[in-house]
Amino acid sequence: MKDSKKIFLHTYGCQMNKLDSALVCSALKEAEFEIVDSEKEADAILINTCSVREHAEQRVISHLGNLKHIKETRPQLVVAVIGCMAQRMGGELLKHPAVDIVCGPAQIPQLIDLLKEALFNKSKSLAVTENILQHPLENQPLENFESSYDRDEQIIPGQAYVSIMRGCSKFCSYCIVPYVRGLEISRPPAVISEQIKRLAGRGIKQITLLGQAVNSYEYKTGDKTYCLADILETASIIDGIEWIKFITNYPTEKYFEQICFAMRDLPKVCRYLHIPAQSGSDKILKAMNRMYSCQQYLQLIEKAKNIVPNLSIAGDFIVGFPSETDDDFQQTVNLVQKAEHKNCFVFKYSPRPGTIGEKKLKDNVPAVVKQRRNVELLCVQEKISDRLSKEFLDKEVAVLVEGPSKKSHPDEGKEVQLVARTSTDWIVVFDGPKTLAGQFANVKIVNSTPLTLFGQLCS
Ligand code: 5AD
Ligand code: SF4
Repeated sequence: MKDSKKIFLHTYGCQMNKLDSALVCSALKEAEFEIVDSEKEADAILINTCSVREHAEQRVISHLGNLKHIKETRPQLVVAVIGCMAQRMGGELLKHPAVDIVCGPAQIPQLIDLLKEALFNKSKSLAVTENILQHPLENQPLENFESSYDRDEQIIPGQAYVSIMRGCSKFCSYCIVPYVRGLEISRPPAVISEQIKRLAGRGIKQITLLGQAVNSYEYKTGDKTYCLADILETASIIDGIEWIKFITNYPTEKYFEQICFAMRDLPKVCRYLHIPAQSGSDKILKAMNRMYSCQQYLQLIEKAKNIVPNLSIAGDFIVGFPSETDDDFQQTVNLVQKAEHKNCFVFKYSPRPGTIGEKKLKDNVPAVVKQRRNVELLCVQEKISDRLSKEFLDKEVAVLVEGPSKKSHPDEGKEVQLVARTSTDWIVVFDGPKTLAGQFANVKIVNSTPLTLFGQLCS
């Protein structure tokens, strides 16, 4: 399209945000906008934002600072802030001199119109949800917007995210998600399965089902209640879909066995469970409003490992939560040692405005202590990951190739360094043709580091 307006889209944050960006991208193309890959040539810049930690927001604020300077020489440039930070800050963000549009996650179906208004009439706009906690967002425009997504806006070739629920009603005391994404609501099973079929028709081989607590998925219709295991079963019979993953799990007994049985019995369901513990101290778990004890967490993953052979488990931890003592932290270290996760993401506690943690608890663990605990926990995990990764040596594994690694040069010859993942989410690096991106391959593992397996392509 010769005269079409050019859009640059920058995404911060989690998989849910990546999916929202893919939806937006698809809608922009449908509306004959052109997506460009540099800010320089763009008529409008969209920033999809994250509010989960203060650091994520600071990055956006400094990005906006740069854009303010750029707009001094390019006053026609339109800047839209979308996503969680847009919902959290609303009108306050619109006051920023760089910002023309503020659009929350539930309003993305309106974004195209808002963009046109801003590009052609120079009007500013604010679209966010009022009283977000009053009721779950029965949002038909969002549902339609989402379920029409079947284009090849692939975040990674051959792969797509499918959100099976929106929002979260768990109210962990540190977490901003319910306040920016609203209360938990599950999408209808029929809509999910139609969407997966269309994605499969477009060549998608792996789908990742998304939900803030994806194992809480529950949809009642007539006298049947559908849970995640039912969605896995339905997705499994869709031709073309080879691997099915789901993230993120909340540690709870409810539906847990059914989900593990689905993982054991359905070959397409990947044996990978991302199930954050957040802490190993019962005192801290209680203060976090997590509904389980350390022992219950360990029993749960033990159960999963017993049901599902070769299961790989990953987790998240927050260090430096208010009142976390050295002893509480030691209990987290003990949990990590017992749980044997494949890998863990460790975050330093960051008080988020409006959460119970921020309102009622004092952020009283000094930054240096948070930093020290962060490094120590990663160090403990590294030894475990290293041991688990060595178990792959000399073995052949099936991988889905994501594409050339950051190290490889686009002009390199036929063979480049490729990055792929196993069904259990291990990262595998090996040399092979670029054309393997989006394809399955068999790789023999010849070397390993705690987080990466190195292999050779099997012929
Ligand atoms: N501070 C630090 N980490 C947080 N997370 C969520 N909220 C916060 C916060 N306020 C972490 C949790 C969650 C992951 C996505 O981010 O570990 O699982
Ligand atoms: Fe994702 Fe949570 Fe960040 Fe929103 S706040 S983008 S839901 S991680």
